Amino acid sequence: MSVLDVGCGHGRHLNLFYNLGFRKLTGIDIVNRSNLSRRYNYLKFDIREEFTREPFLQNKFDIVLCNFVLMFINPEYQIKVIDQLFEVTNKYLLLETREIGGNYSYPCYIQNFYYYMQTKKEFEIIYYNKNKERLTIKRKWQQTDI
Ligand SMILES: C[S@@+](CC[C@H](N)C(=O)[O-])C[C@H]1O[C@@H](n2cnc3c(N)ncnc32)[C@H](O)[C@@H]1O
Repeated sequence: MSVLDVGCGHGRHLNLFYNLGFRKLTGIDIVNRSNLSRRYNYLKFDIREEFTREPFLQNKFDIVLCNFVLMFINPEYQIKVIDQLFEVTNKYLLLETREIGGNYSYPCYIQNFYYYMQTKKEFEIIYYNKNKERLTIKRKWQQTDI
């Protein structure tokens, strides 16, 4: 199972997956976290850019995480980023956000993604918690099923 952590920060989720035995681990972040590249595939990348610009982001990943990142993305880009996350997800997409306020964050509600997601027929929601701002989505037909 391959894992892509979008906005991976210092790699706390990548470390968690590593400790669980996962080895195909990739992190991307706008900040250079080159220390991560010793163990993981790592790319310094701004997720507002086209994922298709990067050859290895043209692949699909079995599990895609995007935790506490979308609130740092200007709302004008949020749906574009979500669409790109759908695009690279082969099985599960885990989204988590939080309203934090302040100069560096934007309004960002999981509820909006929940409603947007319902327009995507190839995905289904398997976990939604509005209060905790968490949403887990599963692709109904995976590449391996075809
Ligand atoms: C609050 S941290 C969350 C880190 C990690 N996902 C976690 O849950 O521990 C937000 C991360 O998003 C990254 N980030 C913010 N804007 C980004 C962008 N446009 N492209 C890629 N990463 C971005 C930041 O550099 C930071 O590492």
